[in-house]
Amino acid sequence: MDIRNIISNMLTRRSPDELIAAGKKSELKKTLNVFDLIVLGIGAVVGTGIFTIIGSAIQGGPESLGAGPAIIISMILAAVACVFSALCYSEIAAMIPVAGSAYTYTYATMGEFMAWMVGWILMLEYAIGNITVACAWTGYFVQFMKGFKAVLPAFIVNFPMWLRNDYRFMFAYCDKFGLDPHSQMPYLFDKIPVALNLPAMVIVLLLTILLIKGVKESTRFASIMVGVNMFMIISFIVVGSFYVKPENWAPFAPNGFEGVFMGAFLIFFAYIGFDAISTTAEETENPQRDLPIAILGTLVICTILYICVALVLTGNVPLGSIDTQAPIAHAMRVIGKDWFAGLISIGALCALTSVILIYQLGTTRILYAMSRDRFLPKSLRLIHKKYRTPHVLTWISGIVVIVCTLFMDLNISAELCNFGTFTSFIIICIAVLILRKTEPNRERPFKVPFCPWFPIMGIITCGGLMIYSLKSLKTSSVYFPLWLFIGVVIYAIYGYAAKRFEEKKRAKFSVQKVVEKV
Ligand code: ALA
Repeated sequence: MDIRNIISNMLTRRSPDELIAAGKKSELKKTLNVFDLIVLGIGAVVGTGIFTIIGSAIQGGPESLGAGPAIIISMILAAVACVFSALCYSEIAAMIPVAGSAYTYTYATMGEFMAWMVGWILMLEYAIGNITVACAWTGYFVQFMKGFKAVLPAFIVNFPMWLRNDYRFMFAYCDKFGLDPHSQMPYLFDKIPVALNLPAMVIVLLLTILLIKGVKESTRFASIMVGVNMFMIISFIVVGSFYVKPENWAPFAPNGFEGVFMGAFLIFFAYIGFDAISTTAEETENPQRDLPIAILGTLVICTILYICVALVLTGNVPLGSIDTQAPIAHAMRVIGKDWFAGLISIGALCALTSVILIYQLGTTRILYAMSRDRFLPKSLRLIHKKYRTPHVLTWISGIVVIVCTLFMDLNISAELCNFGTFTSFIIICIAVLILRKTEPNRERPFKVPFCPWFPIMGIITCGGLMIYSLKSLKTSSVYFPLWLFIGVVIYAIYGYAAKRFEEKKRAKFSVQKVVEKV
């Protein structure tokens, strides 16, 4: 095996023209307009971050200090990191409007190996991130059911613990309270403990089926969810603002800079998702114009909403009493609006549902692009005859998330998702800098202003937050490099060879066709 040949293959780039041509041949239906894209964006962004993780970001998590009311500074920091990357996403998405997001852009700038790694890292953002959201969905579902204790049977209202948690949680729970695990969960053949997050599994399954039915149907559904959750968030801001006690805002930053930076790292999860818009470029009617508007529009709307939510939340509930499971609903209970807390749970369920939907859509579109580049077998990218959606990949993504909910933890999956997303943002900023050098004359319907400074600022802010958090987050700081290592190993023993094999097969097939014609 010639090592030089291998290295040259690993560095082979796909030209933007080739990518655009492949995108034009796409069998995916072009149905999305700018409104659909903003709905998709808000649907992907507003979710677990603002409804659940905000509690730990203010109060502190198992391995991190909290920001306190200074969470608004953390939010601004996270938003700034996102804006630089969003501008870079917009430039490339408008220039190369094809499915696959950061994965495709990396292929055009840094070559095959880096593209594979970015595809692998994006699975952290989308698939692993969705485990966090599905677990948070269960939390709000349980809260919601409790609101019906007067009319529903007790076993539904008090959903058994073993049917709403993974087995690791159940063991940790039994350990903490000195309980016998046999008394808390059933055992298969008296040996295998059974504990599953049933609500999370069911919602992912239902949304997978919906996604197979069609992307337009899915965004229509997402727009209803987004409408309900926006209404709830705005109502929370309006109702809560009458009960703000400015004395709750002191001390403003109880843990100083460290709390503010860790808060920014955690709350970054609340911003993830705007990049999902660019994964649907091939299904957009006018991608060059609509993608940048939708990406930046989503980010601005969400930042304004988040800051208002944080001001009201920290103004309503004294620091130390902010709930970390369902902080927004809990805040309404603190001000004596129990009925409204129930409504908030509905809003949260809608928000989380749309995030799961859009993340599953993103996962399949990235895998679709990877399969089209022959990293994955062709059979995986089969398009459904009737619905014209990649149904095999949609099923695979759904099943992976369902299986992972059996053993993954909400906090760890959120941190891993953040690490993955920061890395992909940094790569996008670098890609803009490279493309400005390698393709200076290519038409750019949207350009990042103040280049190279803005992309460099994106790299510094995302990289800085990531490196800073590594020293506190002991568990995910080990899992993240491990994930990268597994990606390298899979490429070495499978991805590299699979691509060559598929390409050879294709070349043979083309020769055969030419011979038949002659
Ligand atoms: N931004 C998304 C959420 O908060 C991932 O759920």
